[in-house]
Amino acid sequence: MDDTNSGGKCPRFGFDEQGLGADAVIRELDSIARAEDSVWADGRCSGTIYCGDRAIYDLSAEAFGRFSYVNALQRDMCPSQTRFESEIIAMTLDMLHGGAARARGQEPCGVIGSGGTESILAAIYAHREWGHAEKGIEAPEMILPETAHVAFGKGAHYFGVRVIPAPVDPQTTLVDVDFVRKHVGRNTVLLVGSAGNYPYGTIDPIGALSDLAMEHGVGLHVDGCLGGFILPWGEQLGYEKVERYARLLGLGEPSGINLTGETAGRLPPFVRPEAVGHLSSHATGIETSAMQLAVLVSATVNGGVILRPQMSGPQDFVPRERWRLPETTRLEGLAAGFAAAVNEGSASAAFDPEVAVAGKTGTCAQLGWFASYAPAGRPELVVVVFIEHGGQGSRAAAPLARALHAHYFRVDLGTPAAS
Ligand SMILES: Cc1ncc(COP(=O)(O)O)c(C=O)c1O
Repeated sequence: MDDTNSGGKCPRFGFDEQGLGADAVIRELDSIARAEDSVWADGRCSGTIYCGDRAIYDLSAEAFGRFSYVNALQRDMCPSQTRFESEIIAMTLDMLHGGAARARGQEPCGVIGSGGTESILAAIYAHREWGHAEKGIEAPEMILPETAHVAFGKGAHYFGVRVIPAPVDPQTTLVDVDFVRKHVGRNTVLLVGSAGNYPYGTIDPIGALSDLAMEHGVGLHVDGCLGGFILPWGEQLGYEKVERYARLLGLGEPSGINLTGETAGRLPPFVRPEAVGHLSSHATGIETSAMQLAVLVSATVNGGVILRPQMSGPQDFVPRERWRLPETTRLEGLAAGFAAAVNEGSASAAFDPEVAVAGKTGTCAQLGWFASYAPAGRPELVVVVFIEHGGQGSRAAAPLARALHAHYFRVDLGTPAAS
């Protein structure tokens, strides 16, 4: 039996003859928790653990401990639960612009569930009932992006709602809104979008889905279980702040290295407040040059220094700093993620048994890219490859970067290239 994740003890199959005592119970739980935490502590985890801040975990454990023994059903004995639920709903409505609905004469409301799955089940059930009561729909249907969480399939099965699967664009991974438009019919009770979705973390075109739902008088459920609570804060951050930091990072202007063909990239001149959340997670409208990405990637492994690229031989080379990331910037975990992307993830085409390459692939519009450095443990060379109209970064750009790293580290180049 594999007991590595159970703190070194085999599971129990019945009551022990003697109780363990409080200290032994805590010791055992501690060792189990430590083993499980080590799985994500290096940052190589997407979803499941939503924040790595121990202080927040301690605070929530402390707060939860005050009520962990309460059966929240008995509201006459514990009215606090009603207060907490109402406050959470009020705060969430505030965050998600409930005021805008109120201004239109509607009454925004909410309900607390046990987690993501229950919120999805409740939405499907509510829309089925609504479709039946308001429109007499006997054979309800919902249009479901292929990237939607599996809980939607479960809900559809439980509540007898037919699923029309909607394809997603293979490049952007966003739902095909034209397909959704063509398939809204007289039995449709619900459209679905995710912000962001479970497999990719990308955000469906919620505005376009919402327009469709309004136009056809059907429901729209936006699944925000994966980071959806963060999006409104991106919006409040405001584009000005995003732009200020982007410029400090060297985006939006040429590096000054005087390299033929180097571009300035692009920062949008203006971004609507409601689009800043999306921009913050997807860099929508931001264009970077390969040189700018190289500077950013090196900052993740050089202690947060944004360097000014220079042309120079090794003798008279003196690094020039442009800016330093604030000390509170959290870079830990990135290096492990970059290494894992090459060793066992999307960038495996860059794997080289002799040169430890680490990096990140990307694909956007007509561009496949791979930003990398090597050797992973003591980075010396950064290589960024952009390939236009050549396919995905993982397939097109990563092998080329691998070849460049291999060439640099296996061949004595005499004078190394520009830093
Ligand atoms: C996008 C998304 N939807 C729904 C769920 C289901 O949430 P839960 O696991 O809390 O039931 C998840 C969980 O990871 C999710 O990421």
